[in-house]
Amino acid sequence: MTDFNGKRVLLIIGGGIAAYKVLELIRRLKERGAGVRVILTQAGQQFITPLSVGALTHERVFTDLFDLDDEREIGHIRLSRQADLIVVAPATADTIAKMASGLCNDLASTVLMASDKPVLIAPAMNPKMWDHPATRRNVKQLRADGVALIGPEEGEMAEEGEAGIGRMAEPATILAAIEERLAALDGNQAGQFLKGRRAIVTSGPTHEPIDPVRYLANRSSGKQGHAIAAALAAAGAEVTLISGPVTLAAPDGVTTLAVETAEEMLKQVEAALPADIAVMTAAVADWRVTEAATTKIKKTGKAPPALKLTRNPDILAALAAHSNRPELVIGFAAETNNLLKNAQAKLAAKGCDWIVANDVSATSGVAGGVLGGDANRVHLLTAAGSDAWPEMSKAEVASRLVQRIAEYFGDDRPRRRDEAEAHPS
Ligand code: CTP
Repeated sequence: MTDFNGKRVLLIIGGGIAAYKVLELIRRLKERGAGVRVILTQAGQQFITPLSVGALTHERVFTDLFDLDDEREIGHIRLSRQADLIVVAPATADTIAKMASGLCNDLASTVLMASDKPVLIAPAMNPKMWDHPATRRNVKQLRADGVALIGPEEGEMAEEGEAGIGRMAEPATILAAIEERLAALDGNQAGQFLKGRRAIVTSGPTHEPIDPVRYLANRSSGKQGHAIAAALAAAGAEVTLISGPVTLAAPDGVTTLAVETAEEMLKQVEAALPADIAVMTAAVADWRVTEAATTKIKKTGKAPPALKLTRNPDILAALAAHSNRPELVIGFAAETNNLLKNAQAKLAAKGCDWIVANDVSATSGVAGGVLGGDANRVHLLTAAGSDAWPEMSKAEVASRLVQRIAEYFGDDRPRRRDEAEAHPS
């Protein structure tokens, strides 16, 4: 259990039935030695009282912008300055809308506007409100502004018979997200673990030429792979990112190599060995045109040209079976149906250690879609089983994955399956 070592969290409690769960979050934060100061919004007071919050924080609870006493003792500017991290839980559709448009008409929104501190929000609302185009827009804006989201999760709503995505993440999940953020502020704890490790990451689609102007490709944007490369580098690893054609900037502190085709990608991946970690995020085209035309194919005949296809090399499988195999090989599984079953089969078939499975169907429920979008909802499959992560930004998926990688290489490192088989304990 990490000690938060006096780190200060400013917790803004919004209005929503999930507010009562935040009392548990406060208790856990205090247990770990965090300083917790609370702003309880007017709407939040409909669900819990300043008295119950104050009893847990042992601090005065702030409730109103125009409370002169508070303004004399501690202004809203100081409230935000004295925090290491601001957490909004539950973050209602209204709070999210205010944050996205920069409104400040109460203490909570004013503090958020007057702050340059990192902000983590735990949305909670009815699934229809979460799905509403206005909320979609606002969430997109907040992500672009650098606000981190945890949840919401799928489940039953307080309203009878309502289910869907909208439930606030559980206190333990929010606590883990807070821990991650505070660790990152603390001179990057994860960096201690991955310093001196080498990592190879693939990202983006591949383009398989048909002729000099046409190609076969897919909808991958490279956002997830680039975020993973950036997070590994931020954690101290020496990273080579091998990327298919994308419109993204190369991440800071990463050696980025641009390739077009699957064959080029494989060549660069092999050239980047040796490495300790490989994360194969690219959506590699499974087939290439057997003989790409050297000049533009014209519509001369009546029938469209037949494209003869050849299977591309499987980069992940090749790396997992390589004589110079990285110790930890992680693949992705993009699935549109039978997510866990297909991903489990891929884990075995490719010979990798972990698989990050994501539902890339149009019905995944992830805001903006997974392919090309900014959010993702994944399962992490390891030999130990599968973990379902709530919907979060691709940057958060990356930082959580890097945290798991750091744990793997830490002292509590689990033995690899083959080692365990060779030396059963
Ligand atoms: N992959 C790879 N080389 C390929 C195909 C896939 O390295 N030629 C990697 C991807 O980077 C990913 C994993 O294999 O880490 C799974 O990719 P995915 O597209 O989900 O599956 P496929 O192996 O292509 O299988 P299928 O298309 O049948 O689902």
